[in-house]
Amino acid sequence: MKRVFSGVKPTGHLTLGNYLGAMRRWVAVDQHQADALFSVVDLHALTVEHDPARVRRLSRQAATLLLAAGLDPERCTVFVQSHVDEHARLSYLLECVATDGEMRRMIQYKEKAVRERARGGSVRLSLLTYPVLMAADILAYGTDEVPVGEDQAQHVELARDVAVRFNQRYGHTFVVPRATSPGVAARVMNLQEPTSKMGKSDDVGPGIVYLLDEPDVVRRKVMRAVTDSGRDVVYDREGRPGVANLLEILAACTGGSPEALSGAYESYGALKRDTAEAVVEVLRPVQERHKELCADPGYVDGVLRDGADRARAMARPTVDAAYRAIGLLPAP
Ligand code: TYM
Repeated sequence: MKRVFSGVKPTGHLTLGNYLGAMRRWVAVDQHQADALFSVVDLHALTVEHDPARVRRLSRQAATLLLAAGLDPERCTVFVQSHVDEHARLSYLLECVATDGEMRRMIQYKEKAVRERARGGSVRLSLLTYPVLMAADILAYGTDEVPVGEDQAQHVELARDVAVRFNQRYGHTFVVPRATSPGVAARVMNLQEPTSKMGKSDDVGPGIVYLLDEPDVVRRKVMRAVTDSGRDVVYDREGRPGVANLLEILAACTGGSPEALSGAYESYGALKRDTAEAVVEVLRPVQERHKELCADPGYVDGVLRDGADRARAMARPTVDAAYRAIGLLPAP
């Protein structure tokens, strides 16, 4: 059976982008067709300025939302990255295989480093080495497929390069993974800035739909989405990014195609109304289940405890093999 690994980083409240671009497929497809692991990758949240209490809170909320969205611990492994030491252990070895030039070429590093500097902060070294830790997350489990949104493709490509290089130098140790991405909604855009990704740690709050937003808040955000000049509803990602984004969101929520849906609307107002209602309906069951799970913290703790035990047992043999292959003396 193929192995799937993916993760979500607790740097902010989870968004509709996370859900449509990644989580929904983990629930509907991956957990049924693969031996799948899904992780709240909390170590990654320490790469930018952070408040410890908030990261802890968001990690718990993200884990609860993964279960609320429908990940079933009987079918897949749900765990928190920092509970499994193998990620950090392997990351160091991979730092000895990846290069500084490769890290500096990463688009997300460049964008985030600029943002951190603009805020007057300094750039943490871990922000530069982030893709290596992500490679460790993936390679530790012998992962075949990594289901992610479009923004993570370059990082998965790096994990492939590092795996191939390690195998060539030190003998076959890692499976070479590949990214898989959803056809529609691989890149959900910010409703206020439809040329930028809807990211959970961004500043433009009104343009981001969070999974736990109340229905009226969702409606308000969608109704106020920036649309393009012109009146007719056409699907053109380059020329009409605002309308294209709404069509993609609507298509992802209702199962149609953005091109076909564009023909069904004569005004932006009607498109926004239907999109808002479709999003509210998609989020409703997740929010209801989230509420139930919050009332049962012992259940979530149990899932995370079992998940970490299972993940550790899966990762350890591969990471131990990598230690031996690269030349480290086994402990007597
Ligand atoms: P993160 O936490 O930013 O996002 C989690 C998942 O959601 C997808 N996503 C989106 N998809 C479409 N449109 C959007 N606006 C949008 N925003 C987010 C992301 O592509 C991702 O699949 N580096 C990763 C976390 C990570 C990871 C890993 C992923 C760490 N280690 C190993 C896979 C495998 C990240 O920051 O995701």
